[in-house]
Amino acid sequence: MTDASPDLPNSLDAQLRRRAASVIPGGMWGHMRAAAVPAGYPQFFAGGEGARVRDVDGRDYIDFMCSWGPIILGHRHPEVEAAAREQLDRGDCLDGPTEHAVRLAEKMVALIPHADWALFQKNGSDAMTTCVTLARAGTARRKVLVAKGAYHGAVPWCSPSVLGVTAEDRAHLIYYTYNDVESLDAAVAEAGDDLAAIVASAFKHDLAIRQQLPDAAFARAARAHCDRTGAALVLDDVRAGFRLNLGGSWENVGIRPDLAGYSKAIANGYPLSAVTGNDRFRPAAEQVFVTGSFWYSGAPMAAAVKTLEILEREDGPARLA
Ligand SMILES: Cc1ncc(COP(=O)(O)O)c(C=O)c1O
Repeated sequence: MTDASPDLPNSLDAQLRRRAASVIPGGMWGHMRAAAVPAGYPQFFAGGEGARVRDVDGRDYIDFMCSWGPIILGHRHPEVEAAAREQLDRGDCLDGPTEHAVRLAEKMVALIPHADWALFQKNGSDAMTTCVTLARAGTARRKVLVAKGAYHGAVPWCSPSVLGVTAEDRAHLIYYTYNDVESLDAAVAEAGDDLAAIVASAFKHDLAIRQQLPDAAFARAARAHCDRTGAALVLDDVRAGFRLNLGGSWENVGIRPDLAGYSKAIANGYPLSAVTGNDRFRPAAEQVFVTGSFWYSGAPMAAAVKTLEILEREDGPARLA
């Protein structure tokens, strides 16, 4: 451990920031861009163990960030590491999926009441984009309702930044206010007979606001609109998934979506996301072409099976609550 504060010019963090500034736009990209990391806050990390992370200058921190969400069992949980390692030692990226894809899909179908099937991707943005694609494919309609200010990813249809995004990318989005039944009713009316999906976050967790759990009346109204119109109720459980309820966060208000996206905690830090759906959307899920070179890697799926087993065994949501 050194006593170099990360903002001292000779700290390794400061040296890496200077090197990054010349070869990485903005010194780092996205939510990690250098300007978003205040002076004195470390940008570069070296490792993590249990509840702690260590920066490149050897300073330890309690990881209240959970590494932006993925860490749910603590860094390098021994059982998860062993499960991932076993597959890594045999090869991670192969010519097809490993048995862990089937094991994980079986696990999710067993845990999540609305799920008749599961598909896997890498990031939450992939999962939510897949949900919207499946909703449109399954309904042959275009309009998608999203809550104002909600985050569903960093791709053109939903990114909070409009730079590089065309109006056409968002032409079929209609916005409503989370937990506000009247605004949802109005958005549904505006969509008319072209409503493909109502997308809702597990709870209102937009940046820099007071967070709000879903109001049961709001969740029921969303379900009723989808039942009446045939649209898909899509739950974004990327951030909250496996933290509030292992069966999906809206189990807590008694409402089941048609499609749901997960990522973050699913594999305790290994890169993975998932979409679950019911049989109504199985034909769409069989037909659409959603894929990626790394979406079949075995080790993150092995890590996910183990993470979910541990969360089930230890009743993770109850301990978190
Ligand atoms: C609710 C929610 N949906 C989607 C995403 C996008 O996930 P990812 O960053 O893995 O693409 C996030 C990421 O923070 C999220 O919190």
